[in-house]
Amino acid sequence: MKLTTFLRFSAFGLSTILFQKKKPILGTIILTDKCNLSCKHCAVNNITSVIYPYHQIKHEMKILYKQGIRILFFCGGETFLWQDGEKNVRDLVREAKEMGFLIVNVVTNGTFPLELPEADLILLSLDGGKENHNLIRGDTFDTIMNNIETAVSDNICLYMAINKINKGDLKEVCTIAKHMKNIRAVSFNFHTPYPNTESLSLSKEEKKICCEEISELLRQGYPIFNLKSAFDYIIHNSFPTPCYQCVVMENGQQSICGRCVEIKNLCNKCGYFFAAEYALVFKGNFRVIVDMLKTYLKYI
Ligand SMILES: C[S@@+](CC[C@H](N)C(=O)[O-])C[C@H]1O[C@@H](n2cnc3c(N)ncnc32)[C@H](O)[C@@H]1O
Ligand code: SF4
Ligand code: SF4
Repeated sequence: MKLTTFLRFSAFGLSTILFQKKKPILGTIILTDKCNLSCKHCAVNNITSVIYPYHQIKHEMKILYKQGIRILFFCGGETFLWQDGEKNVRDLVREAKEMGFLIVNVVTNGTFPLELPEADLILLSLDGGKENHNLIRGDTFDTIMNNIETAVSDNICLYMAINKINKGDLKEVCTIAKHMKNIRAVSFNFHTPYPNTESLSLSKEEKKICCEEISELLRQGYPIFNLKSAFDYIIHNSFPTPCYQCVVMENGQQSICGRCVEIKNLCNKCGYFFAAEYALVFKGNFRVIVDMLKTYLKYI
């Protein structure tokens, strides 16, 4: 991370904490809900299958930038399916950088060739070792491994949603992250129980066991892009929700924190680590702030 970026975020953090502000810093734009997969745990794919046009996405980028947002995520559906004429997701990343966003990340299922060197991070979903990943995501593991091997840049961070099926695969995914070229780290979330996916949720006790294992893997030096200091809050869902420093934009509609904010009682069961981490940082939790500074400087 550049020094200017670091200083800019530090100033934002300080003023948010001191003046209890609710201004956002992290924005996600949904490019489409169209997807080539149909994962067991997902509730947002192929509801409309509309690919939002370039002019609309560009307009949304400008709105978020004007609000002061400087960390931008492109998400879906599947982001690599996004196309409008000659433009693809790589063009969006380049244009977001030119516009002045300081960190631009793309979330993908990794089933398409990875040519995205301009992104700060490509968050690539891998939901376990081969057997469990394929059980959740269809027969895609080998394609993804090949795309990681042949990626043109080393900015990949694996992204795993831990659930009842794959909770035993944490070390396997960490080992892939540690040893495969082009991968910087792995970032975990717990399953969030959207309607009709509740059966995949972990109990508090299971979350505790997973967090203990992740802590031990961190201690052993595996590259893990999560904040240990937030684990207790995540296990007990005791972090403040929603997180006002994060917003999501889909088809012209802006929501605080996530699209899921509208689903009744879901925030009490939220499994997204970023929501906990950002909410705790901007409430002024000292341990989480220090942990975030160390972790972000290491991987971005
Ligand atoms: C909705 S997908 C969109 C991007 C891309 N299609 C992908 O799979 O990475 C974004 C991330 O949300 C995760 N996800 C989907 N449903 C979830 C749930 N119920 N709980 C936690 N994470 C979930 C996916 O595993 C993926 O890492
Ligand atoms: S690839 Fe992503 S968007 Fe598609 S079904 Fe899976 S989690 Fe959902
Ligand atoms: S806190 Fe609520 S709105 Fe935010 S990601 Fe979690 S479930 Fe979604």
